[in-house]
Amino acid sequence: MKNAVPCNANDCVDQIEEELSGHDLFYGHGTDNPGAEAQWLVVYVLTAAGVERITGETKVTGEHLARIYALLARRIEEKVPMAYLLKEAWFAGECFYVDERVLVPRSPLAELIVNRFEPLLQNQPRTILDLCCGSGCIGLASALAFPDSEVMLADISAEALAVAQINIQRFELGDRVSTRRSDLYESIDQSFDLIIANPPYVSEAEFQQLPAEYHAEPVLGLVSDQEGLEIPLKILSQSAAHLCEKGTLILETGYTWPALAKARPSLPFMWLEFEYGGEGVCCLTAEQLHRYFAYH
Ligand SMILES: C[S@@+](CC[C@H](N)C(=O)[O-])C[C@H]1O[C@@H](n2cnc3c(N)ncnc32)[C@H](O)[C@@H]1O
Repeated sequence: MKNAVPCNANDCVDQIEEELSGHDLFYGHGTDNPGAEAQWLVVYVLTAAGVERITGETKVTGEHLARIYALLARRIEEKVPMAYLLKEAWFAGECFYVDERVLVPRSPLAELIVNRFEPLLQNQPRTILDLCCGSGCIGLASALAFPDSEVMLADISAEALAVAQINIQRFELGDRVSTRRSDLYESIDQSFDLIIANPPYVSEAEFQQLPAEYHAEPVLGLVSDQEGLEIPLKILSQSAAHLCEKGTLILETGYTWPALAKARPSLPFMWLEFEYGGEGVCCLTAEQLHRYFAYH
């Protein structure tokens, strides 16, 4: 790495972007390019140092640079996602606490949440389940979008739930957001107006091919047996029993979606389209799921 000299924020972002671009790194854990990641790092360090109003002209001191370059070195040498180094990730316009116990939030579901799932829901949801919640980003952002709702965050991982609990405190939502340790629905006996799930859906073989940054994440958050289909298929078959009469399931399966559609050819999946990218999210009503699984 080059020797950094005190400069302004704009120049510093350019320097960091150049450094990042010169290395074989993968972007997909909160940003999708080195420029955005450089800006994130610089703004984070300046903010943490107490700089209140950051502009392109803000002075970046030698002390700031030492911190920026220490984090940059880890990003480059260890290929750790920036979100883990900074212990934060932005999702649906909110900043969540994250660390290696949870996947870095990046689901296209954020776009649906910000739009309050328009026009997918039959009723305003009063009860919401974030199944496979990880950091809790989906359920907590939904709780903020629907201020009258009660939300359950469920995950099989006690470690993930500890992070979700940190985020519940961060957003002061302890009065209407709870956590539940559960293998899918095994320890859940309620029904919900809305179930949202971003479960693991990557096959073991695909996982082995993924860039190093994914290997810093909990494997439990990514890999599902049966070529990635095991957990999504279980969620499809078990959700009807946990949805209210007019309830809706929103399930993310990423690029596994064609295989899932093929495995359940007569299930009337509605595959959603996203303005800001992403694929493989389906919407199914309680009625559709009941009807399908009554005959299959
Ligand atoms: C893809 S991550 C999603 C995390 C979070 N919802 C997000 O969008 O960032 C999947 C999560 O599912 C959890 N998980 C894996 N198998 C599970 C199971 N059988 N039951 C419940 N949760 C499970 C993992 O611990 C992980 O936190």
